[in-house]
Amino acid sequence: DQQQAVNQIHDQFNITTEKATSIVEQFIEEMQKGLDHEGATVPMIPSFVTGRPTGDEKGKYLALDLGGTNLRVCEFELKGGGLFTVHQQKYVVAEELKTGEMRHLCDFIADCVDNFVCEYGSDHAQADEHLQLGFTFSFAVNQTDINRGTLMHWTKGFNCSGAINKDVVIMLQDAFMRKNIHVNIAALVNDTVGTLMANAYRHPDTSMGIILGTGTNAAYYEKLTNIKKWRGGEQVFEEMVINMEWGAFDRERRVLPLTMYDNKLDRESINPREQLFEKMMSGMYLGEISRNAILHFVDHRVLFCGLSSPELNKQWGFETSYMSTVVDDNSADLEQVRHILEETLQIPATTLGDRQVVQVICKAVGRRAARLAACGIAGVLAHTKELDNESAVAIDGSVYEFFPHFEKHMMEALEELFGDQATKRIKFSLARDGSGFGAAMIAMMAHKAALAKS
Ligand code: BG6
Ligand code: GLC
Repeated sequence: DQQQAVNQIHDQFNITTEKATSIVEQFIEEMQKGLDHEGATVPMIPSFVTGRPTGDEKGKYLALDLGGTNLRVCEFELKGGGLFTVHQQKYVVAEELKTGEMRHLCDFIADCVDNFVCEYGSDHAQADEHLQLGFTFSFAVNQTDINRGTLMHWTKGFNCSGAINKDVVIMLQDAFMRKNIHVNIAALVNDTVGTLMANAYRHPDTSMGIILGTGTNAAYYEKLTNIKKWRGGEQVFEEMVINMEWGAFDRERRVLPLTMYDNKLDRESINPREQLFEKMMSGMYLGEISRNAILHFVDHRVLFCGLSSPELNKQWGFETSYMSTVVDDNSADLEQVRHILEETLQIPATTLGDRQVVQVICKAVGRRAARLAACGIAGVLAHTKELDNESAVAIDGSVYEFFPHFEKHMMEALEELFGDQATKRIKFSLARDGSGFGAAMIAMMAHKAALAKS
């Protein structure tokens, strides 16, 4: 019956403190492997970003951001003293472009940049002078320089052909050339690295940048002496930002508490057996996990008298944003939940009991995601020993921003792991749209370094 179902859901999605502790232990081990050698499960990619911003950087730079909900092109004017202004424009990437040929995607991006520069950009460029651009490309890239890197694999529903193992900067720069667009890609940046740098511009004690959005990942400052696999030779700098690609954690399924709903999602995804941590935690997937659980209880005649609907049976048909509405409904008869189920998903009739079970599912899936995010954060902070100091953690992404109580659940789990004294020293801050700004700043730093060399 429904009460039994509720208990079952609690059990299946609960991550006890003990379980969280073992996840953190495994996580720290995997981080170490990734720092020690190439080809580890958690790749721990050196980003080639070394210094910390001072806040005094100045100049106009473009940023391009691919991999979140939208493609964005921005122009930033850094004014020093921590101040800047920005113009920006969002563009929608059609589904066909996400799974078509890479060349077509690059042409589309180039057209967006061209459109932006012509319509919105300020006229500071001489015809023969290239604008400098920071390219936030939010996928796993094996970075070989600040403006070079080959795509390791796609995530988050992108699957363009002709891109794996190719340099994404060269491909996009070629598209600019074909279209006679005078823009130079000065830096290739992961969104987590951009988020970290953007926050560090205002708060120099920022230790991590995290994305909890369509996908999930984190970046942090690592001592160069700890990056055993680094082959960059003698260096004058002591630390480098690492793009962890933490979504890849536990490919071996040693420790993540995957349920049958997660396994079904994974099997039916375009990257089966990959990105398991990301699939339990990020916006692209949470709705689908919930849908799988709802359908399971429909099949057992626990929900909706065993009736579903074509909408509910459609893969990805239950969006993560619906979960937020469901979780947020505090009304006695769960009217918002009824609306989503009966109007949006066209389920013929629901009882209050049905709506309560659906709410329990959405709450449990969201809470589990937040507790897993906390395990990742805990792993990084324990590894860097940041917990001894005040530490600012910059976070961006739709799940963190919009999923009800996400931060509260993260904090609870961190308290269970570290105690409340340590967690008082961790400050989360929402770095909304920070990665573009970070990429512009990294482009500036890279461009200045290149000029100084030549
Ligand atoms: C945006 C950043 O604000 O957040 C992107 O500029 C990032 O770089 C994105 O990928 C993540 O959020 P979402 O929810 O759009 O995937
Ligand atoms: C995916 C990408 C990663 C990105 C994250 C958040 O995990 O592989 O590069 O940072 O999504 O957008």
